[in-house]
Amino acid sequence: MAQSVLLTGAAGRVGEAILGGLADDYEWRLLDRDPPTEDYPGEFVVADITEDETIREAMEGIDVVLHLAGDPRKTAPWDSVLTNNIDGTQTVFEAAVDAGVEKVAFASSNHAVGHYETDERTPEMYRADDDYLLDGTEQPRPGNLYGVSKVAGEALGRYYHDEYGISVVNVRIGNLTENHPPIDYERGQAMWLSYRDCAHLFDRCIQADYDYEIVYGISDNDRKYYSIERAKEVLGYEPQDNSAAHNDD
Ligand SMILES: NC(=O)c1ccc[n+]([C@@H]2O[C@H](COP(=O)([O-])OP(=O)(O)OC[C@H]3O[C@@H](n4cnc5c(N)ncnc54)[C@H](O)[C@@H]3O)[C@@H](O)[C@H]2O)c1
Repeated sequence: MAQSVLLTGAAGRVGEAILGGLADDYEWRLLDRDPPTEDYPGEFVVADITEDETIREAMEGIDVVLHLAGDPRKTAPWDSVLTNNIDGTQTVFEAAVDAGVEKVAFASSNHAVGHYETDERTPEMYRADDDYLLDGTEQPRPGNLYGVSKVAGEALGRYYHDEYGISVVNVRIGNLTENHPPIDYERGQAMWLSYRDCAHLFDRCIQADYDYEIVYGISDNDRKYYSIERAKEVLGYEPQDNSAAHNDD
């Protein structure tokens, strides 16, 4: 029988990419505080992730959670990331553990390490001949309060894994765009994640066996300063796209 997957933030862009690739592959329970505007597979729960009781109900019978819901703005103010990204993520982990969920994949962000991009290194680090790489073992260095909230989400995952044994993978997503990488934006090209690689990566987060992991969620771009080796090794991630292939478009 197909695994039951709860997708929070299902009405957003990352949710769209995941469902675009995997709609028929799992028993989906979708959750968002915004109702859906398009057709969707499975059941749709309209709820806020800070609503403890509703989130507990939404976890019933779930094998894997893909937790995307949150404020994705790099300029998001503290009160919003505190509520949506930190408090909401704690509510999701607590309910997941109590419901016996096996795995949680958490949508972290490149902004968890944004302050590695110091003035001295940019823009060379966005270019293919610079071998500078972050691989997920480095200390977090958030570049804004949104990034701080993602580091907090990763720490919540660490705690719930160590305390209760739930499997957790944090995907530090780069720059997701549909069809084409960002144009005239080297940083965005270096951390581009295509829709199909996004769907495949989260598919691997559902399927693979892991304990606690931090991986980077980008395509196999020529220009990259995030390593995808850990995602390949632990998750079996095999990206098909490369922003450099679009240079002449
Ligand atoms: N898109 C990217 O390139 C990117 C990059 C790095 C990280 N991320 C992370 O991936 C996740 C999804 O991002 P996205 O681009 O799809 O954003 P989005 O804004 O398109 O989608 C987020 C969804 O979460 C929902 N949501 C927000 N707060 C909620 C709450 N308290 N309760 C219930 N639902 C709530 C929103 O209604 C929205 O539908 C976010 O956590 C974001 O930080 C995205």
